[in-house]
Amino acid sequence: MTVGIFDSGLGGLTVLDAVSKRLPDVNFIYLGDNAHAPYGVRDADDVYHLTKAHVETLWDMGCNLVVLACNTASAAALRRMQEDGVPKGKRVLGVFVPLIEALTERNWGDNSPPREVAVKHVALFATPATVSSRAFQRELAFRAIGVDVETQACGGVVDAIEEGDMILAEALVKSHVEALKRKMPHPEAAVLGCTHYPLMEEVFQAALGEDVTVYSQADLVAASLADYLERRPEMRGDDLPARFLTTGDPGRVSDRATQFLRRRISFEAAPKPA
Ligand code: SIN
Repeated sequence: MTVGIFDSGLGGLTVLDAVSKRLPDVNFIYLGDNAHAPYGVRDADDVYHLTKAHVETLWDMGCNLVVLACNTASAAALRRMQEDGVPKGKRVLGVFVPLIEALTERNWGDNSPPREVAVKHVALFATPATVSSRAFQRELAFRAIGVDVETQACGGVVDAIEEGDMILAEALVKSHVEALKRKMPHPEAAVLGCTHYPLMEEVFQAALGEDVTVYSQADLVAASLADYLERRPEMRGDDLPARFLTTGDPGRVSDRATQFLRRRISFEAAPKPA
């Protein structure tokens, strides 16, 4: 059983870790587009074309199902790829729906009309591209009414984490939380809408205060994927060995990934998109 995980770079490793723990019998082929990361500052068209090419690579390798771990890719490319038409027997899923289902207390695949939910004030922290796409608000509106969403584009955080500069990342997170609070002083819930932010979850929580529920995607995506594969066993794909692929320099990316997850990870060069 093999599932593809696509990410702009290293951040998706937080999702990979959570899904591997939840689904130990599934092999994952992880593809990080480090050569073009971060996606969060690219325009939507660019993100769409890059994402589509790499998802097609994973499909061609034998993964029937590909998860877009990257929120920016989910925001800019998921709906568009699904509307363009996905090849027979293949699927691509994103990371917003599991988050929104948790926030709105819906079960997987509940397509009933939007309804009032308990949470009324939500803070969304994400990359500039995800914030400007408004994809989160669009998906939320399919499921809930009367929810006020305030956004904060967290410029610089992804770069600081990728560079391993956690002191800078922490300072940036604190200042982004302050900026959000000036716009929405009392959010009840905060969504960490970027793969890198789970690494800063404690900093977000401390800056937001204990009374704010922080929704971080890795575990939610893992639970949702387990549920999906149970309902759709045909999406489990061929039995392929687990691999880590990158469009960047494999040696450099392996070192960064090892530092990022604090365990040895060896990347190899990704096949060139067709
Ligand atoms: C990025 O590539 O800018 C961050 C990934 C994300 O949006 O989750």
